[in-house]
Amino acid sequence: IIFESSLEASILVAKEIANLIERKEEINEPCVLGLSTGSSPIKVYEELVRLHKEEGLSFKNVVTFNLDEYYPMDKNNIQSYHYFMHDHLFNHIDILPENINIPDGTVCFEEIRQYCIDYDMKIKSYGGIDFQLLGIGRTGHIGFNEPGSHINSGTRHVTLDHVTRRDAASSFLGIDNVPRKAITMGIDTIRRAKRIVLLGWGISKAKVIKKAIEGEITSNVPATYLQEHNNTSFVLDSEASSAL
Ligand code: GLP
Repeated sequence: IIFESSLEASILVAKEIANLIERKEEINEPCVLGLSTGSSPIKVYEELVRLHKEEGLSFKNVVTFNLDEYYPMDKNNIQSYHYFMHDHLFNHIDILPENINIPDGTVCFEEIRQYCIDYDMKIKSYGGIDFQLLGIGRTGHIGFNEPGSHINSGTRHVTLDHVTRRDAASSFLGIDNVPRKAITMGIDTIRRAKRIVLLGWGISKAKVIKKAIEGEITSNVPATYLQEHNNTSFVLDSEASSAL
């Protein structure tokens, strides 16, 4: 779906999320959202905050699972995805703190494996993710599923691609400060979501968006795995769609 501007697109995506939250509320069910970080979803979160403050949208029945977190990473660090999510969304809405799930970048190394298994189990215990919001990295990653990620991968400890670390360098004041590892939901975790919306804005994403949508399905571009998901939309602005 191609829009003139990312703002117009983000408002529509936020509306879809709000409608889902309200539908689930009416039938007394939790609404399970998979959330992402980075610059791409910021305007969606802004619009959700506006809908909460000005139109009374409640998040009391919402349960969230974030895609990823750097490792190691302290929660209070301003570069953490934990900080990002609270700053852009959770601090401004009425979500119950116990309903927020973000991979923990402080889990001790020996416990990561079990921690990741438990993260996937917790998602399953809610009946899976109803709506998964995604961005895309220039390596074709979704979450932090870098090239080489297996289609059946679950939540796990991963090594970041050099391109990904370079792209993150400015927010860490230099590439040397960017963590080399992360915890990410797996491709299988993501593909089990009932609905997936991937956001892509700007010319820097045009090349990878073309590969993701039109290229052959390959682990070299993990976003191509979404081609086989039956309820995925790529929501793009005109620049990001310009190579299609
Ligand atoms: C990071 C995140 C991804 C995100 C990507 C794109 O690598 N782990 O989930 O999609 O960045 O970021 P941006 O939206 O800033 O382009």
